[in-house]
Amino acid sequence: MIDIGVLISGGGSNLQAIMDACKSGILKGKAMISVVISNRQDAFGLERARKSGIPAVFINKKDFENSAAFCEEIKKTLTKNKVDLVCLAGFLSKLEPNVVQNFKIINIHPALLPKHGGQGMYGHYVHEAVIKAEEKESGATVHWVDEHYDNGKIIVQEKVPVLPGDTQFTLAARVLEVEHKIFPEAILKVINGLNAKCSINNAN
Ligand code: GRF
Repeated sequence: MIDIGVLISGGGSNLQAIMDACKSGILKGKAMISVVISNRQDAFGLERARKSGIPAVFINKKDFENSAAFCEEIKKTLTKNKVDLVCLAGFLSKLEPNVVQNFKIINIHPALLPKHGGQGMYGHYVHEAVIKAEEKESGATVHWVDEHYDNGKIIVQEKVPVLPGDTQFTLAARVLEVEHKIFPEAILKVINGLNAKCSINNAN
């Protein structure tokens, strides 16, 4: 069983998709969420977690001297909860090397990376950019996290069409549906990879 830590800043619909997959979907018996961390106190995702009996922790960046100290607290919380895999599900704060270098971390992005990613490209900005660029398709990407924004190797990506007359809202809704499907799929893929590595190690 893999212990997942989910980092959020908002509504947590992706968190919900992961929770559902762990409870009765493709991650059942393979993964559990051991902690949810938010950098915003009013993030609805915290409530979703608490309702399901999952430890939900608010860490306020303002309580810390700098970003590294804030991330040190995140690191401590992940370590305390024995997290094997960190999932960024709409987490809108930069993670410093003290976290990135110490955990396996994956992120979901609401576009087809490497297009429409990078610093400042989140939420509605992404969908606006896709529409402005007159793309025929968009989608969602789950990728490994390194020290650069939206840069790591892609794990799963799925496309959706951009339809005539789409607004950032209609496109976001279409993409979000795909996000909820591919995040658990990507986690399963990662777990299978981790397990494969374990059995190779065990065989030696
Ligand atoms: C999603 O669109 C995700 O791709 C982006 O932030 C949004 C989070 O939505 N990074 P939710 O909080 O999971 O509902």
